[in-house]
Amino acid sequence: MSEIAREAGALLMEFYRQRVKIEYKGDADLVTAADRASEKLILERIRTRWPEHDVVGEEGTRIETGADYRWYVDPLDGTTNFAHGFPVFCVSLGLTYRGQRHAGVLYDPTRDELFAAETGKGAFLNGAKIEVSKTPRLADSLVATGFPSHKRHKNPNIHFYHVVTLRSHGVRRAGSAALDLACVAAGRFDGFWEFNLNAWDTCAGILIVEEAGGKVSGMKGEPVEVTDRNVVASNGVIHDEILRTFDQIFTGRDLEELPDPREYRK
Ligand code: IPD
Ligand code: CA
Ligand code: CA
Repeated sequence: MSEIAREAGALLMEFYRQRVKIEYKGDADLVTAADRASEKLILERIRTRWPEHDVVGEEGTRIETGADYRWYVDPLDGTTNFAHGFPVFCVSLGLTYRGQRHAGVLYDPTRDELFAAETGKGAFLNGAKIEVSKTPRLADSLVATGFPSHKRHKNPNIHFYHVVTLRSHGVRRAGSAALDLACVAAGRFDGFWEFNLNAWDTCAGILIVEEAGGKVSGMKGEPVEVTDRNVVASNGVIHDEILRTFDQIFTGRDLEELPDPREYRK
């Protein structure tokens, strides 16, 4: 998996250096030739070595025969960054066995960082073991989130962003959910949450966080199945505090009011 991710990452960098042409899937939902070329390469490599495996890829690959092993492929996570020349993007390869996360690899070709994990065997960055942070409180935490590129007006996350920004050291919105999860695993972020993700965004990253000693759940603390869309990941220590904060937001209790924008004029 690592070899394939590195090869796909090198291909992405060739496109990146040339500044690729942008196409639109939706109003702000971009896709580039690099996304497609990377998925094609990854699919070819998987089919050559493991022709019996199922493969689901963001750019359209659907090989679903009911095989024990299934790959979830995001050939380029962070397309908007990539297309604008902002160097935060990666290749994400998740592998499930009978519906459970089994192995995951994330490769960031701009920093030559390869994150990898296999169930029960720990998490690694370029071969060295990684662990989540020990930050004890949300107030001392640096956390991350993301916003979808389509149907943005239907996403409630701006309210979560507002509250968590006021209660933490800050919320980063770097534009690659998979790398956000990798950063939680490596102790760079203390937590991450996002609504409406897909299995290709999260399959590898969730396993890497868990294998680094972190905790992952849904917005109310429930387990996250492979195709579940809402994710909270943390160092484990601040997890309950994040969930309590989210409960306050969902129920509208004990929230700090933001001034009306017109108030600032005064
Ligand atoms: C997106 C990125 C982004 C997240 C979006 C994803 P893409 O994936 O992970 O950080 O906020 O929800 O769709 O489209 O760049 O592969
Ligand atoms: Ca993605
Ligand atoms: Ca993608």
